[in-house]
Amino acid sequence: MTQTLVRGRLLSFLRRPQAIDDTESYRYEEDGGLLVENGTIVAAGPYGAVRAEAAADADEIDHRPHLILPGLIDTHLHFPQMQVIGSYAANLLEWLNTYTFPEECRFVESEHAARIARHFYDEMIRHGTTTAVAYCSVHKASADAYFAEALKRGMRMVGGKVMMDRNAPQGLLDTPQMGYDETRAVIAEWHGKGRNHVAITPRFAITSTPAQMEMTAALAREFPDLHIQTHLSENHEEIRFTGELYPDAIDYTDIYAKYGLLGPKSLFGHCIHLSEREADAMSEAGAVAVHCPTSNLFLGSGLFPLKALSRREKPVRIGVATDIGGGTSYSMLKTMDEAYKIQQLLGERLNPFESFYHMTLGNAEALSLSDHIGTLEAGTDADFVVLDAAATPAMALKMEVTRSLTDELFLLQTMGDDRAVRETYVAGKAMKAVL
Ligand code: GUN
Ligand code: ZN
Repeated sequence: MTQTLVRGRLLSFLRRPQAIDDTESYRYEEDGGLLVENGTIVAAGPYGAVRAEAAADADEIDHRPHLILPGLIDTHLHFPQMQVIGSYAANLLEWLNTYTFPEECRFVESEHAARIARHFYDEMIRHGTTTAVAYCSVHKASADAYFAEALKRGMRMVGGKVMMDRNAPQGLLDTPQMGYDETRAVIAEWHGKGRNHVAITPRFAITSTPAQMEMTAALAREFPDLHIQTHLSENHEEIRFTGELYPDAIDYTDIYAKYGLLGPKSLFGHCIHLSEREADAMSEAGAVAVHCPTSNLFLGSGLFPLKALSRREKPVRIGVATDIGGGTSYSMLKTMDEAYKIQQLLGERLNPFESFYHMTLGNAEALSLSDHIGTLEAGTDADFVVLDAAATPAMALKMEVTRSLTDELFLLQTMGDDRAVRETYVAGKAMKAVL
């Protein structure tokens, strides 16, 4: 099997950085080498040492002086919302009803779903995202298109057919039985095929009747290893309406807990307005709160207390995500730029190492997939990204006076976007080159 030796400045995290000078939390190799074979990293370290391990005929690609990081991970976005981005609405519920639900109705057509799926993966690669966790639409055809395209590109992707049986247009509703049957069919056809992972996906409590939540509970019992994704505590009006629909629950989180949906594979989008009791319940269950900063600011939903939730006595696990199309950028760099600003407004600091940890290993840990992705360790998937902190004239000018890795990362986060992504490798293959 041909080996590929990739040379560049390697940066990969070992754990969450405790402070800006926590140099033990990451590995940085100024002149590093990654040896790739069969889609897997087989060696990583100083270039000289890795070169010595490589076969004499290994292909060699030199990315110096750019940074090589594990592929970026996006833990929450909506694949059928590519044409919803930038829709002018006052708040979440107006945005859903006016733009999002009508647009998602179009995914009943498998040709439309297949076309958008192609664009979707092109954008992921363009932005350096090698794994994402997506909501498809209610239509099984949308999940088929999503996973078929992931398989073609060899990407490790998580996704699910949305279940929703009320409070949306007729063209966007299933029934408790249909939601159950079609989710089972998607699992049977796609889970474990290539690198695909199927997630159990009730949209949120507002669009699922208690009968559908019972069926979701059954799926969670039958497939305990699958991810579960839904939305939680995003907007005050949403929280109030949810309380009306589930009067017996003590709070929003308790609804999901009652149906067995609160566990270590559960990903809850937003979680902006959790009470202390809800944060305790999330922490005890090991559930993940997924922060979507560009979406939260765009829809005016609120300021997610990322730092406060992570330093609690009972800390809440955290993921970060774009939330396309409530979110306004496909870029995880832009996402962390906005996350940084939200913490500023809350009087907190989010240092650049924490940000890059979250985009890579942090999100891999949030997905319980760090044995495969989110690092440059030997034995993991060869998904990585090449970043150029001098990608634009304005960035290059700032780089002239940038002296440290800390400052370079902060510049990438603050000014970077898809232009800073030189190349995106999926299972050892350079994908951007062939877009
Ligand atoms: N809550 C339920 N559905 C959605 C959605 O599509 N986007 C966002 N941001 N929140 C939701
Ligand atoms: Zn969402």
